[in-house]
Amino acid sequence: MDRKEFIKTCCLAGLGTTALSAVLQGCAASNYYAKTIAANNVITIGKSEFVQVKKDKTILRKYVLVKVDKFNFPICIYNLDQQKYSAILMECTHNSCELRPQGNYVVCPCHGSEFSNTGIVQNPPAEKNLQTLHITSDNENIYLHL
Ligand code: FES
Repeated sequence: MDRKEFIKTCCLAGLGTTALSAVLQGCAASNYYAKTIAANNVITIGKSEFVQVKKDKTILRKYVLVKVDKFNFPICIYNLDQQKYSAILMECTHNSCELRPQGNYVVCPCHGSEFSNTGIVQNPPAEKNLQTLHITSDNENIYLHL
């Protein structure tokens, strides 16, 4: 590789890294932490927390994140359909890295394990499913039972 080719390759690699960083920041910004009310080991989350209004358009979030003092990791609550939800602790079962939601599944940034939106292992190196929490709902709210 001559000098000119080397410089061109380095510039393209730099641009790629910058673009990837922007995409990852965009993903992180889309993670929404829901407002909650805690009482008697139950966290209440309004179903309205899944509704997002953007430029006169209503969009339903696939998931929201919740922080609970009891856990060192956030809990991701997935809207599986209008009446069914899942709650998974975002701690990777391989080596305890914090997972990242990616649409309908979660990914570990440390070694690449993937889990379904119900916490089932989809890709190793993790072998154990994620910790899930009991969740119920009524017409207005979702109840996360700790
Ligand atoms: S800590 Fe998650 S894959 Fe290793």
